[in-house]
Amino acid sequence: MNSSLDALVHSAKNAFHSANTPADLENAKALFLGKSGQITELMKGLSALSIEEKKSQGAGINQAKQAIEALLQERRAAMQEEALQSQLKAEALDVTLPARKRHTGGLHPVSLTLERIEKIFSSMGFEVAQGPEIETDWFNFTALNTPENHPARSMHDTFYVEGGYLLRTHTSPMQIRHAVQHVKRYRSLLDQDQRMPEIRVIAPGRTYRVDSDATHSPMFHQCEGLWVGERVSFKDLKVVFTNFCKTFFESEDLILRFRPSFFPFTEPSAEIDIQFSEGPLAGRWLEVAGSGQVHPNVIKNMGLDPEKYIGFAFGMGPDRLTMLRYGVNDLRLFFDGDLRFLTQFQ
Ligand code: PHE
Repeated sequence: MNSSLDALVHSAKNAFHSANTPADLENAKALFLGKSGQITELMKGLSALSIEEKKSQGAGINQAKQAIEALLQERRAAMQEEALQSQLKAEALDVTLPARKRHTGGLHPVSLTLERIEKIFSSMGFEVAQGPEIETDWFNFTALNTPENHPARSMHDTFYVEGGYLLRTHTSPMQIRHAVQHVKRYRSLLDQDQRMPEIRVIAPGRTYRVDSDATHSPMFHQCEGLWVGERVSFKDLKVVFTNFCKTFFESEDLILRFRPSFFPFTEPSAEIDIQFSEGPLAGRWLEVAGSGQVHPNVIKNMGLDPEKYIGFAFGMGPDRLTMLRYGVNDLRLFFDGDLRFLTQFQ
């Protein structure tokens, strides 16, 4: 290859290198290899030469042509590689981005309280019973020494449903339901005048009253407790309930007060108040349950002899206990279903 061909190859190389797009490169190619490109023109010029000259010059031109084609290929490949790299860069996945969180469900704060209550009372030998939310007048009122027209019936603003049923206004109907079952189970022992195992049960669940404000909701929870035997006393109730409160609130610095009260199905009756000596509620009396000695008429309705059997009952509010434990001041938050509130308890 002579020096002018060398220069031609060199200028092709420069042209290819300064092409930045595939279109530029095609244009640059045309300048050398196109129909009237410089190499093509040189080829055309050969026809006017003698055979000898054709041979010697033709070989040089061919060499130059091959060199230019190789340079073109090289530049094309480089351009493709660049395009690929910039595409990869543009479409890159950031694998360091934190993954989207999956929501795992959790227990409702009141359910957590119910679980706690069940665990604590189970450890003290109490069974856990469940009963219907749609009740009859008999179990909700009459069997609990609250006959028709008894003024205590107006204490509950009751939701009545069709067919003579009602939504239970408290869990106390479970005292009767459970005791009747228990007595049935041990009928043969009773018939032989033998000692029946004591009734020791709690019955947590939903209850309903026509009532709605920051501390009352038409649906709320209660947990009933019942202890019936031949030698049970108020002292037993006090010990059990005190133990329960201290365990539930994980505090020894807590005192209880049994304040005389009235319920048709207990006599005597007492409201149970608690007081913390520390924390934001320190020094205030907080009502947590109703309680009392089971009325002889109720013992009778359980199928037992009130001369022989004595019982103690209590009914507490798990919603209230949850509010006290976690410092929640509006009961309605529990039933609004707002996840921002509920997820705080998981
Ligand atoms: N059932 C009563 C209420 O709803 C509470 C209670 C239960 C009182 C058991 C005494 C004994 O207010």
